[in-house]
Amino acid sequence: MTTKFETIEVSPLSPALGGTISGVDIAAGVSDEQFAEIRQAFIDYSVIFFRDQQITPDQHIEFARRWGEINVNRFFQAVESHPIIAEVRKEADQKANIGAEWHTDHSYDEVPAMGSILYAREVPTVGGDTLFASMYAAYDALSDGLKQMLSTMNAEHSSRHVFGEVAYGDRDLDDLGSRLGNTDAATQDSIHPVIIRHPLSGRPALYVNGDFTVKFENWTQEESQPLLDYLYAHARQNEFTCRFHWQQGSMAIWDNRATHHCALNDYHGERRLMHRITIDGVGLQAAAA
Ligand code: SIN
Repeated sequence: MTTKFETIEVSPLSPALGGTISGVDIAAGVSDEQFAEIRQAFIDYSVIFFRDQQITPDQHIEFARRWGEINVNRFFQAVESHPIIAEVRKEADQKANIGAEWHTDHSYDEVPAMGSILYAREVPTVGGDTLFASMYAAYDALSDGLKQMLSTMNAEHSSRHVFGEVAYGDRDLDDLGSRLGNTDAATQDSIHPVIIRHPLSGRPALYVNGDFTVKFENWTQEESQPLLDYLYAHARQNEFTCRFHWQQGSMAIWDNRATHHCALNDYHGERRLMHRITIDGVGLQAAAA
């Protein structure tokens, strides 16, 4: 059911998460009152979407700064004219896309990013949708026994195996090497609670992801992997997800602490060009703390 605020309306994309916001023209300017409502929708829906926004890179940056400090991505190729914007691009003749595996952005940082603002500049005629999954729904559906066990556990996250030299052999084969780089900067290791208390909503959320989580703290890799794999499969159940179909001018803002996302790679032979700005977050606390 559509939620009416004073200056915006939000239509849910699925019962679990996602809301499309109408009544906003970012290029024309967003008042403080309207921004407060957008922010509330972001907390309520975990990922919010806008349609038909015609914004310049400067307007994208200005809007992003309303949310917090910009966290410049170390590894994605930057937009040449605006180096604080990361480019998420796949050319018609390229095979691999960025973000094809389910993940949440920047969990390898000690203070992980709050969210990301993705803006569609060029989209394929069909395909190229993004899937999102709710980590609140994933947590809520765990058994009491597993919730209890996970509530005292931490997990180790890293950027090394994804963006470091070790990842590069594969990258060059699948042509991502031209769009990702700076392997020497892939030195981030962090430890986060497996079940966090979301810093804005106060709700417990599952916080491990297939790209960046390496293992549970004080567990071996071999011990960790079966439980991690179970949690990833659990978190991707259809009922916990929504699917967003992009058009030129669409924008998504997702909460990295409450969601995972996955960019579908089903549009070979066509170009897709997105601009992404990621916003700083805060240190994460265990839900049980
Ligand atoms: C990403 O993982 O940030 C990319 C998402 C997308 O291109 O849809």
